[in-house]
Amino acid sequence: MNTLNTTDFKHVAIIMDGNGRWAEQRGRPRLIGHQEGARRIKEIVRACPHLGVSHLTVFAFSTENWKRTQAEVAGLMSLFRRYIRKEMQDFMKEGVRVRFIGDRIRLDAKLRGLMDEVEELTQNNSRIHLTIALNYGGRDEVARASRRLAEQVALGRINPADVDETTLARFLDTCFLPDPDLVIRTSGEARISNFLLWQSAYAEYEFIDTYWPDFTKEIFSEVMQRFGKRDRRFGAVVA
Ligand code: FPP
Repeated sequence: MNTLNTTDFKHVAIIMDGNGRWAEQRGRPRLIGHQEGARRIKEIVRACPHLGVSHLTVFAFSTENWKRTQAEVAGLMSLFRRYIRKEMQDFMKEGVRVRFIGDRIRLDAKLRGLMDEVEELTQNNSRIHLTIALNYGGRDEVARASRRLAEQVALGRINPADVDETTLARFLDTCFLPDPDLVIRTSGEARISNFLLWQSAYAEYEFIDTYWPDFTKEIFSEVMQRFGKRDRRFGAVVA
């Protein structure tokens, strides 16, 4: 794998799509695809420091994914619990700080407990910042942020005339994160699916044909090399 020579660290966000199709292609249950997808995360997290990526955010479960069969939802929830338990020590070894975004209210107590535990355990790590989006939806996030902001206005703590983009951003789940520089979606679909809607205003996008369980660190490296060549103007005209 090529190591990028950069001191300019980036936030990459990934929509890990194609687990189901990967499994179906092999005549296996969809959950096997999710299991392979979970394994894939480790290789990609480990590659981050070599590719100039300081922040990695992965979309694990959306607010819309509850519409899947009860068996698939239960299987995914159980996979999340096993994943956190299994990877906890590895996160410490690799210097990974783990945090979650999304609405935790609908998640079961055992999973919420493990999320709190891994966030607390890894809170002093800073080599790689891994954010896992769980029961996350961009519109839901903005709605919840607006509700909390409105509560502060009602209490007289914020003047409506002072509300601007920075104020709202402070109430988003992602208040601790820089905006993503690059959003990658695997599996060949070219959709955003309610992921980081506010935060991706100036992000670059890469839609990759590979299913997530086949997304290797070599493909990740190629994507980052391409990203390095992009001309990012953020709405300005470069003289
Ligand atoms: C989309 O593929 C993937 C998901 C809805 C789940 C993502 C979960 C993982 C990668 C594994 C577990 C993650 C963690 C953090 C342990 P899809 O099922 O929609 O695939 P399809 O479009 O081919 O059906």
